[in-house]
Amino acid sequence: MSEDVLLVENLPVSGSSPEGGVISLWTLNRPEKLNALNSESHEAIKQACSDAESDDDVRVVVIRGASPPTAPEGKRQKPAAFAAGADISEFVGKNSDDVRPFFENNAWERVWNLTKPTIAMVDGFALGGGAELALSCDLRVVSDRAKFGTPEINLGLIPGGGGTQRLCQILGYGKAMEMVLTGEMVGAEEALSLGLVNKVATPEDLEAVTMALAENIARKSPYTVKVAKRAVRAALDLPLSEGILAERSEFVALFDTDDKEIGVTAFLERSEAKWKGS
Ligand code: COA
Repeated sequence: MSEDVLLVENLPVSGSSPEGGVISLWTLNRPEKLNALNSESHEAIKQACSDAESDDDVRVVVIRGASPPTAPEGKRQKPAAFAAGADISEFVGKNSDDVRPFFENNAWERVWNLTKPTIAMVDGFALGGGAELALSCDLRVVSDRAKFGTPEINLGLIPGGGGTQRLCQILGYGKAMEMVLTGEMVGAEEALSLGLVNKVATPEDLEAVTMALAENIARKSPYTVKVAKRAVRAALDLPLSEGILAERSEFVALFDTDDKEIGVTAFLERSEAKWKGS
């Protein structure tokens, strides 16, 4: 497996506690192919998920696409992309038996199932499997030239990385259906108004805005952050009455943690909380 399709950098977060917290920044690195996700990309993302999950220092994961190289004189400049989809060249001549094992053990679900917060930093195209990777993250921060879409319908396919379901949950039935049936793209401002993305920045500011959000979260108690993610996530799977019970149970259990006592005392003493992470 080539390591180059995904670059992983762990960036220290000043003021994190317990000390040593990092933001794990993953860069999809096939810019010549608009960072299309091939099987190597999937394996690399799955490995990065295992590494991030088992490393207590990783507080937040940020995923982005590599910028396209500057085109040589006379050649067309390739556009910016988070990821322009699954790598379509891998679909040629495949039947259902060929693709089923891959889709049953895919990177989108591994990202979705991370217990730590995840942020997609999207500059340019997030299409098909790329849109689904962004949807597998908890939050999306995008540049004003970002474009989301599920163009699989134009290939005689439908989204296969959870896109139909996650779009429905975020956008509601009508808009999700429109995107899936037409394959048309949604721009950044519309995506913001639809609740598909959390923030929009200029391409120049995108990294700073995303990292400020990531650092904000990375400075909280890593223990409480995991509980918070689990509690909010419960709303997607449970009926309201059961979700309320799940939240209450998580909330009450936090009263047995060190970090509840640390946070409450720090507020009352007007000091900065130094979390234990337990
Ligand atoms: N899979 C494989 N290769 C892809 C790709 C994908 N999903 N998306 C883009 N590429 C490749 C192109 O083949 C091209 O490679 P080449 O330079 O070796 O020929 C390169 O990336 C640049 O793409 P190109 O189409 O030339 O850029 P563009 O600016 O004309 O168009 C898009 C950009 C995003 C509109 C167009 O690339 C596109 O429609 N991509 C496919 C989107 C899609 O259907 N995704 C769902 C897949 S399930």
